[in-house]
Amino acid sequence: MKVLNFGSLNIDYTYCVDRFVQPGQTKACRELRKGAGGKGLNQSVALSMAGAQVYHAGLIGQGGAFLRTVLSDCGVDCGYIGESRSQNGHAIIQLDDAGQNCILLYPGTNLELTEPYIDRVLAHFSAGDILLLQNETNQIPYLIERAAEKGMRVALNAAPMTDEVKSYPLDKLSWLIVNEAEGAALTGQTEAGQIAETLAERHPELAIVLTLGADGVIYRQGKLDLYVPARRVAAVDTTGAGDTFTGYFLAAVADGSDAAYAMTFATAAAALAVQKPGAAASVPALEEVLKAL
Ligand code: RIB
Repeated sequence: MKVLNFGSLNIDYTYCVDRFVQPGQTKACRELRKGAGGKGLNQSVALSMAGAQVYHAGLIGQGGAFLRTVLSDCGVDCGYIGESRSQNGHAIIQLDDAGQNCILLYPGTNLELTEPYIDRVLAHFSAGDILLLQNETNQIPYLIERAAEKGMRVALNAAPMTDEVKSYPLDKLSWLIVNEAEGAALTGQTEAGQIAETLAERHPELAIVLTLGADGVIYRQGKLDLYVPARRVAAVDTTGAGDTFTGYFLAAVADGSDAAYAMTFATAAAALAVQKPGAAASVPALEEVLKAL
């Protein structure tokens, strides 16, 4: 089975600081690192590392040529990636001493997807294949509608959350993957159980994956209600850990695993990712994950 990730491709600039810069403050950082990122790219890397047959589509712009190399070196098929003369998407990431981050995004070429380009790529996929999306590109409703029409199963990682997500055709998804803050913004609820309950009531056919960071992950699909705790590890950089979870989770379900195993597998992968610096660079190899399990 094929997984198509129509996803963002970013250049990540990570500025290491003791604490995040405050409003009105000027602060020198300790170190600057440049690497491959974007929720889309990170998730493709994780899918491929986990053993899925993954195809990435999206647009690379000025300065982004190395992103294609990073993906293909990880075994991702890059044949559907397009090019634009605009600036590539990039992220300015503050990474503090606790391993937490805050991220400022410049979307760049990630917002230049067109309907003809999408149609050309989707023509190569068929019923049963999986389409993965994040909320870092444009054309999300169009992608969901066209893929669902073809009988593809669609996963949306609704990150970063925007008001527009509420008007997306979410009932046509097979999986909705959100963190607690994103789930709260979607439902108006603040407690994790209530967020999951509200989403499950609204979308009874949909598998809801609610990631809670260090508190684990909840899965709801109709009456099926699962919880897997996170592993206790010392985080050096949480950037891309959610993407590692998403890629490993989807690779497992694409391979026929049940949701409980997929959550355990993906949780182990995310725990390894937070112990390494970088976004795509922190995605662990399958052997490391299997050993951790
Ligand atoms: O999820 C982490 C990613 O968010 C980073 O790689 C950055 O590019 C932003 O898209």
